Amino acid sequence: MRFKAVKGTRDFYPDRMALRNYLADTWRRVSLRNGFVEFDGPVLEYLDLFSVKSGQEIASQLFSFTDRGGRALAMRPEITPTLARMVNAQINSLPRPIKWFSVPRLFRAENPQKGRLREFFQWNIDIIGSDSVLADAECIFTAIDCLREMGLKPEDVVVRIGSRPLTVAALKRAGVNDSTMEAALAALDKRPKVAPDAFAEIAVAAGIPADSLDELCAFQDCKTIDALNNLDSVFLSKEGNLNAIAHLSDLLQYLDVMGVGDYCRLDFSIVRGLAYYTGIVYEVFDAAGSLRAVAGGGRYDNLLKLFGGPEVGATGFGMGDAVLEILLAEKGKLPDLAGGLDCFVIDGEAGLLDKVLEAVGRLRQGGIAADFSAKRQAVGKQLKEANRRNARYAAILRADGVGVKNLATGEQTNVPIGEFLEKPKAYII
Ligand code: HAM
Repeated sequence: MRFKAVKGTRDFYPDRMALRNYLADTWRRVSLRNGFVEFDGPVLEYLDLFSVKSGQEIASQLFSFTDRGGRALAMRPEITPTLARMVNAQINSLPRPIKWFSVPRLFRAENPQKGRLREFFQWNIDIIGSDSVLADAECIFTAIDCLREMGLKPEDVVVRIGSRPLTVAALKRAGVNDSTMEAALAALDKRPKVAPDAFAEIAVAAGIPADSLDELCAFQDCKTIDALNNLDSVFLSKEGNLNAIAHLSDLLQYLDVMGVGDYCRLDFSIVRGLAYYTGIVYEVFDAAGSLRAVAGGGRYDNLLKLFGGPEVGATGFGMGDAVLEILLAEKGKLPDLAGGLDCFVIDGEAGLLDKVLEAVGRLRQGGIAADFSAKRQAVGKQLKEANRRNARYAAILRADGVGVKNLATGEQTNVPIGEFLEKPKAYII
């Protein structure tokens, strides 16, 4: 019987694993230099943690089951509810603001397609305990800091920034009430992903009055604050809306001053699919807009309170590995991750296996990545293996000394064995 990997999961053969490590290492390095510290939680959580406030879409994509004790559990589809749970449990002892990052393995029972899997990794950056727009700016800056380090430029990726409170206000004006607001937001979130007719159907089914759709679309299509003001100055002049606009303009100004303004643009069609967002929201896309979102996030000031904690400001984003990998490949930005050995040790004469083993042992203990052939065979064959293993040097042992060969240039230095083993780093540079 032959088994296949489960639908929507990936086998990480060494070359794929090297890529996964490259993404995770870069995420960690960028997080640390932006002042975030790492946390993680369990893969399994109580089902309720996700059904309370993640929203319908995620709830319908949960891998969930009842354990032998009758408990309803789920494999985490995101880590934000876990973060809120963990912070709430120690809220009085954690110094604020809390700047935490994580690289969790997540599970969503989505229909697998380009950039969407059932098991994936997601970099999370969150700041809890700050109501200031500066915290939103810091999170967005950190996302861009990473993308820029990976070689992506403003012509490759764009952060599209919208506002949940303004979108809610526009929906309220359209006649949507609180009880259907969540469904209406989820419908609006679908607009960029479906044809206009299909959107109209989804919107009306979610309780958005059909005769308000044009006005809502005109709001979503404004690309600047001025355009919004020209379209509807009465709407903008309402107090809550003025605040939301002030937050957006402060955010854009901070991002400009931090040197990443070129990557960012206003886009009121960004709503976010998750139900818990309360403020500025954003998604990162490839500039051509041909792929799904690379990252998404925003402010979620009510989530900790909803989970029984205090009212405390929170903001952050998640960036998945799948779309990012596709984008880096498309832009030719995947690094050469071939890796390899520092030195391949070869017995150049019969009867030298002990010397080979001694040399390999000494080199490895000295921090040099070294290996040797499992078979005693001709030097030419062993050199071939050294090349196949991507070794930088070959050390060819003979009774009267070692030939240390640079495999890139072909240059060879001959040294006494004792001297080579004493100071291998003088030769393996
Ligand atoms: P999200 O928009 O559900 O947000 O996911 C964020 C990113 O994770 C997406 O833009 C995408 O790159 C990746 N992603 C999501 N689903 C999949 C999938 N099935 N396969 C591959 N990649 C996927 C959240 O998860 C929020 N919890 C983020 C957040 C953190 N908000 C505040 N803090």
